[in-house]
Amino acid sequence: MTSQVNMREFCDTISNDYAKFLKNKTKGMEFNLIIKYAKKKGKTLDLCCGTGRYLIPLTKQGYNIEGIDFSKGMIREAKAFAKKENIKIKINDGDATSIKKKNATYDTILLLGDSLGSIPGKENRQKTLMECYRILKRRGILICTVGNRNTNLRFFLQHLKQYVSNLSNSNFIYGDRIYDFLCSKGIHHDYSKNEIEESLRKSNFKINKIIKGKADLNYKLIYICSKN
Ligand SMILES: C[S@@+](CC[C@H](N)C(=O)[O-])C[C@H]1O[C@@H](n2cnc3c(N)ncnc32)[C@H](O)[C@@H]1O
Repeated sequence: MTSQVNMREFCDTISNDYAKFLKNKTKGMEFNLIIKYAKKKGKTLDLCCGTGRYLIPLTKQGYNIEGIDFSKGMIREAKAFAKKENIKIKINDGDATSIKKKNATYDTILLLGDSLGSIPGKENRQKTLMECYRILKRRGILICTVGNRNTNLRFFLQHLKQYVSNLSNSNFIYGDRIYDFLCSKGIHHDYSKNEIEESLRKSNFKINKIIKGKADLNYKLIYICSKN
C-alpha cells in the first residue's frame, strides 16, 4: 500500500459525493460495451462495483449480477440507490485481491470505472487480475477499463512530476497519481498500453478487443478479454 493513502478509508469518506457525482453517468460508452460483450444468460460479477452505477441498471435489465466492493460507504450508497429504484440487488463486502468465491463461478466479470487502477500496489493489481481469471468460467469474459497515462502531454507531465516528487517513497511507482477529491487524498494508477497488456497476459487472459474511450472516457483503454 502506498503509505500516504488508505484507499478503503478514502472510498468510505467520499462515497456520498461519489454517488452524487455519478448519478447521471449510468449509461454511456462502458454501459453499451457491457450490453454488447457481457453474457446475459450467465452469472456476472461487478467487481469493485462502487455505488452501483452499473450493478443497478443491469439488475433492472434482468442480468444475473452481483457486486463486490470493500468500502462499506460505497455499499451503503449502492443499497440506497437500489432502494430508490425499488429493486433488490446482490452486493457483498469483499476484497478484489482475494475473492471468496469458488473457481469458475462467473461467465462475465466487469472491472469498470478504472477500478483496477484504484487498487494501490502493482502486486495487488496483478493478484486482482489473477483472481478474476480463477473465478471466471472457461470462455468467460472480462471487461476491464484503465486510465491511459499516455493520453496527452499534460497528463504525461503530471505523472512525471508526481513520480519525481515521490522518489523517496519506494511504494510509489511511475503511473501512480495522488489526487484530491474534496478534502481527501486518493491514489490511482494509470497504465501505459504495454503495461496493462503485459499484466492481462501474465494472468493468462487472451485480449480479444481493445477499444479507445470516447468523449468523457477519452483517456481510457477498454479491454475485452477471455479465459481460454
Ligand atoms: C473508481 S471506483 C469505481 C466504481 C464502479 N466500478 C464504477 O464504475 O462506478 C473504484 C471502486 O473500487 C473499490 N475498491 C478499491 N480497491 C478495492 C479492493 N481491493 N477490493 C474491493 N473493492 C475495491 C472502491 O471502494 C471503489 O468503490
